[in-house]
Amino acid sequence: MIARVIAIDGPAASGKSSTAAAVARELGASHLDSGALYRGLTLIALELGQDDPVGIVAEADRRGLVLEHDGAEIVPFLDGRPAESQIRSEAVTAAVSRIAALSVLREWVNARLRDAATLERILVLDGRDIGTAVFPDAKLKVFLTASPEARARRRLAQRGEMFDSDTVRAEANVLAARDASDASRAVAPLRRAADAILVDTTDLSFREQVDRIVTAARKALLV
Ligand code: CDP
Repeated sequence: MIARVIAIDGPAASGKSSTAAAVARELGASHLDSGALYRGLTLIALELGQDDPVGIVAEADRRGLVLEHDGAEIVPFLDGRPAESQIRSEAVTAAVSRIAALSVLREWVNARLRDAATLERILVLDGRDIGTAVFPDAKLKVFLTASPEARARRRLAQRGEMFDSDTVRAEANVLAARDASDASRAVAPLRRAADAILVDTTDLSFREQVDRIVTAARKALLV
């Protein structure tokens, strides 16, 4: 049995993970944030102090970087513990796009995503290449985006920091650099699949964006 997949791709800080989690909850499905695995591999690369993909994979296997169910969420565990807080550090965010461009690591992640799909009925996955490369037969593909300023504001608010227009502009530049790197890599670059619906959330409330995707998903899944 292989899960029916809802793929939500898009640029950095477009709200993919929180939206995907809410969509999964409404559909009674599970949610997996594929970026979290790239972040886990990046944490390992930084701790090892090297970008050799074979060494990174060996260390990931040795320390048990694995996906585990945590309620309806499927989250990465490292050393037997949830790795969530460590993988969100600034150092990991700054290095993740470089590490995610390594094809050996992409194959390692994709094998885990496909394994996870064999255990689920309906799986909502978010990332950069879910609809284009990992699950090209997904039942529904969504490309979630928002203006650079809206994404920068959301990311700063998520961190609980105070910000003014200069801080927003600086954060928008950081996000744009990561998007450019993700969109220009040779393997599975960030791009909208031809058959993905575009959801621009710049002027949508969280509720509206979730509703839009849940409606499309019910139609695609016939549930
Ligand atoms: O939360 P945010 O949008 O900032 O990023 P993320 O989803 O945690 O993904 C972090 C990084 O992992 C991205 O910038 C990509 O370089 C990489 N990634 C990828 O290459 N392919 C995926 N399917 C998911 C993430």
